[in-house]
Amino acid sequence: MFQPDLLAGQRILITGGGSGLGKGMGRRCLELGADLVICGRRTEVLEEAKAEFDADFPGGTATYGCDIRDADQVEAMLDGVFAERPITALVNNAAGNFLARSETLSPRAFDAVTRIVLNGTAYVTLGVGRRWLEAGQSGTVLSIVATYAWTGSGYVLPSACAKAGVQALTQSLAVEWGGRGIRLNAIAPGPFPTEGAWERLVPSKDLDSAWKARIPLGRFGEHDELANLACFLLAGGSGYINGETVVIDGGEWLKGAGQFNFMEALDDEDWDEMTRKAQKARNKG
Ligand code: HXC
Repeated sequence: MFQPDLLAGQRILITGGGSGLGKGMGRRCLELGADLVICGRRTEVLEEAKAEFDADFPGGTATYGCDIRDADQVEAMLDGVFAERPITALVNNAAGNFLARSETLSPRAFDAVTRIVLNGTAYVTLGVGRRWLEAGQSGTVLSIVATYAWTGSGYVLPSACAKAGVQALTQSLAVEWGGRGIRLNAIAPGPFPTEGAWERLVPSKDLDSAWKARIPLGRFGEHDELANLACFLLAGGSGYINGETVVIDGGEWLKGAGQFNFMEALDDEDWDEMTRKAQKARNKG
């Protein structure tokens, strides 16, 4: 899909890059010639990912243990990363989420998600942006949001609030920093199964099938499809895209939004009957 050196010369920091979608995007960045920095809370997960990456791309990956909810840890990590070699791009991927009826959420439960998704993303983005601005360096920020950043969604209230906030951050800074060489975009993925998200969000096989049935393409996304979109948006050739959120969901959210899409429940007989009735009405008129 891409020239093999699409991201050559880039150094990309991916938060939560040791597992799940972040790891998939990281591997694709390495394949396309970038160097990688991955950070996360669990250092053993990061080291495992690094060992896997190093086997194919020796020396291409650096790791930093960092809980992005803690602004001091974020600053310490960024000092270390930039002292080694400034990054050229940031991917805000780290997230937390769980299903719950909203009336059962305690303040700590609300905070558990928003402190990662909104506060953590803001700490890293502001820290990276400040360093780029001070150095007069250009850069790209790509944040992973969700289609419910626009629509909201029951049962994932803290995540919906936080993802909407990250989208607002993206659009705000795209304007404020765009003239100084920093562009910010977001991706709103539909369902891309990962171990972490699926055990929290899709607790049964029935729900898994029900979800698939909601997607016009009839399947979940593949990690490479998301990773390719991320690399496209990170590449210099997409340098005029700024403040945009690109949806990659097989048409899922549009299907929920389109007023007459529920008509898919009709079978051939129903359609024949409707056509007959419509014809009759026209003949009368
Ligand atoms: C109800 C819950 C809960 C649950 C935690 N809490 N899990 N409440 N249902 N399943 C409540 C606890 O009761 C507690 O409140 C408070 O939240 C803090 O809980 P901790 O376990 O101490 O929090 P913490 O260790 O910080 O855990 C954070 C987490 C956890 C977000 C809850 O799941 C996590 O670290 N996840 C990271 C990985 C992850 O979630 N990946 C999936 C991302 S998917 P009280 O008041 O009882 O003390 C994603 C995309 C979705 O974001 C889009 C899909 C299309």
